[in-house]
This record gives sequence, structure tokens and C-alpha cells, in this order.
Amino acid sequence: MKVLVVGSGGREHALAWKLAQSPLATRVFIAPGNAGTEAEGENVPIAADDVPALVQFARQEEIDLTVVGPEQPLALGIVDAFRAEKLTIFGPTQAAAELESSKVFCKELLRFAAVPTPEFHVFHDPQSALRFLESRKDMPVVVKADGLAAGKGVIVCSNRQEAIEAVRRIGIEKQFGSAGDRLVIEERLDGEEVSVMAITDGRTILPLPPSQDHKRAYEGDQGPNTGGMGAYCPTPVLDEKLLRWVEERILVPTVHAMKHKGRPFTGVLYAGLMITRQGPKVLEFNVRFGDPECQPTLFRMKGDLLPILLEAARGRLDRIEPPDWEPGAAICVVMASEGYPGSYEKGKPIRGLEEAQSLENVKVFHAGTARKDGQIVTAGGRVLGVTARGPSISAAKYEAYRAVKMIRWEGAWCRKDISDRALKYIQE
Ligand code: AMP
Ligand code: GLY
Repeated sequence: MKVLVVGSGGREHALAWKLAQSPLATRVFIAPGNAGTEAEGENVPIAADDVPALVQFARQEEIDLTVVGPEQPLALGIVDAFRAEKLTIFGPTQAAAELESSKVFCKELLRFAAVPTPEFHVFHDPQSALRFLESRKDMPVVVKADGLAAGKGVIVCSNRQEAIEAVRRIGIEKQFGSAGDRLVIEERLDGEEVSVMAITDGRTILPLPPSQDHKRAYEGDQGPNTGGMGAYCPTPVLDEKLLRWVEERILVPTVHAMKHKGRPFTGVLYAGLMITRQGPKVLEFNVRFGDPECQPTLFRMKGDLLPILLEAARGRLDRIEPPDWEPGAAICVVMASEGYPGSYEKGKPIRGLEEAQSLENVKVFHAGTARKDGQIVTAGGRVLGVTARGPSISAAKYEAYRAVKMIRWEGAWCRKDISDRALKYIQE
């Protein structure tokens, strides 16, 4: 079978690496890929959001299965475009992807499905949002732009003044463009955040082991938000019993409600949860694998990923046995360019990759890398996802940082405390 992976980050490297191991895979293409995906298959110079060019490539190469990494092509309707050409693709349709691309749709669906989520109000103009804030008790809230804003359209506020400022930025100054045409203001929750990803064909649901990422740039979860500075899987915060609860009370009703609304959901349903005293509540849904969560998760998965994604795309996930997982844990430490998540330079030669890769339970997934004059150089903010497995979280952490130390480029940095949040829940 010929497989196409769409995207260029660490998530897509992990997907290409795992799919390339399948005995069913004859060729694996990655569009556009990075310097790491070259080792797993063939990079194709087509941007991840160039849907017509991807359709044309898939037709010409007779691709048997396309797997979409990032949200933009899903929100643009890549799945609809492939299906119209009878091409098999794993991911949600444009209408189903609104679960991520519209926070208003997501919150209203959660309310309809009676899924636990923070209290919220929807506003169609900034003035009514401001009036609402003035009229109610001063409470911590979160102000969200309705549309996709590269993870920046969510502003967590401590008081009314900050919330007013957030409404101004999103709704009046339009810092995120038309993404801010509608606003959600919701109750701010405190607690531990967990990611639960599940593969579904719209009927059968296959939850993956829960994971946690570290979104803030600096140690101790301080500093600005990023795409994710590291992740680990599984997280002890959500035990087997609570995961079943999440499946029954969150995943199943959401998948049912999507079907009921005429938007059956196929692909990865990723629930971003806050674990509160009243139990888990949904902060957001994503409609794709999380990045970096995908990296430690797939590094622990035993067996063949390809038939799982293929049967999910065909609506026959019930034929698949759930996969086994390596015991213990895996962690992924993101190595970033100097200046990230602000501006940074590119083109710095990276050294030590082979040495790090020679460690037995380590896989260095590439994100922002490129090949230039035969050398691998930096080409993005998040550059590498150094991923390691071990019998425990602390053993995996030790291995990952051992590999990190072997890798160098000018200005390289990472958080030193990835997975430490788990330690207060376990005694290893
Ligand atoms: P989202 O894009 O909706 O996932 O929001 C990004 C981040 O904002 C989440 O991962 C949380 O850290 C934070 N966040 C979103 N909603 C809330 C909330 N209701 N209470 C507290 N934090 C939140
Ligand atoms: N790591 C969070 C995300 O992929 O959105």
C-alpha cells in the first residue's frame, strides 16, 4: 500500500516512522515533511494546506491511505476533497472539524450532548461581551476567539480588567482577524490538564493511553504559551477507571451528538480535559493527533498502526483489536530555537543527531529541520522532539535528557522539567 502523511512537524515524523514499519506499507510519502521524515519515506514538496495539489498527487500516485496531521487542511476540507475523488483518507470532514475550528460550535455541541465543560456564554459582538463583563461579579474567566488562531486566541484572565482587555484585543482590535468575529467567555477552571486522544470511525471508539503536554515555555509551567515543549504518556493523573469514565461520559456522547447533527466524526478526537474536584471537564476538542503528545504515544504503541487508521477511515474500526503498549512510559522533550516562541533565526547546523539516535530506547523526531548543503539545519521554532522509553517515567526522562545532551546547535534550549508534574502522583 502507498501511504501519504500530510504535515511537517514532529507529529508527522512520528506518524511516518510508525506507518513505515507496517508490513502493508510499500511506499510512504510525506508532504512536505522535514529532514527527519526523509529517513522514513519520500518527501513531496507540497504544502500541507495546498489541498488541490495534494488531491492531484494522491490521484496520480494512487495513494491507498492519506493521514492528515495538522488542523488547517482539515478545516479547509481536505477530507471532503479526497472523498469526492474516492480516495481513502483518515480525518474528519470540514463540518466535523468545526469541533476544533469553531469554539462556539464546540461549546454548543457539548451543551447539547450534556458533556461536562465550563459554564460559558457566546457573544456575536464585542460590545455585548463587554456589557456582560461589567454586569457580573468579578470572577476569573477565559476569553476565546471563535476561530482558529494558532493556539493564541485563548486568553486566560484573572480579573475583570484583564477580561475586558482580552475582549478588546480579540473583538475590537481583531488581533486574530475574523477568528474573533464571535467570542466565548467561560468560567476559568483550576486543576491538572490531561489529553485524551481516541481514534474513531464515527461508531467505534479506540481511546489511546492518556498523556500530558507542557504548553508553557519555561520551567515550572511559567512564561508564554507555545505549541508544546514536551509531553509524556501515560499520565498517572488519569487512572484506568477515570479513563473509562471519560470514554462513557465524554467521548461516546460527543461522537453520538456529532452523528445526530449530521456531522459524523472520523479521525482522532482529542479531548483537552481539566481534572477538577467534580471530575474531568472538556476545555477544548482537537480533531487530530496532539503535537507533541503523538510522539511519546506512538513510541509506546506495539504492532501495526496502518490497519487501525485504514479501517477507521473505511468505517470498519470494529474489526480491529486494540493495540498493546510498551509497559512503563515514554517522554518527549522538545528542543527549540533561541527566541522561540518569539522570533528566532533559522539555518543553524545541528550536531550530535547520530550519537543521540544510537541510544537504544530513544527516537529523535524532527519538527523544524531542513537539509542544506548535505547538513541538517534548524528551520523552525520547535526543532526536535527527543523521545525516550523506559520502565518508569523517571527512567524514560533520564534517557531522553541523556540524548538531549548529545545534540547541539547555536542557541538550542529545552525545558529541563518535562514529566516532573507526574512525580507528585506516583512513587516510583
Ligand atoms: P484551548 O485552545 O481552548 O485548548 O485553550 C488553550 C489553553 O488555555 C488550555 O490548554 C488551558 O491551559 C487554557 N484554558 C482554556 N480554557 C480554560 C478554562 N476554562 N479554564 C482554565 N484554563 C483554560
Ligand atoms: N499539544 C497540544 C496540541 O496539539 O494542540
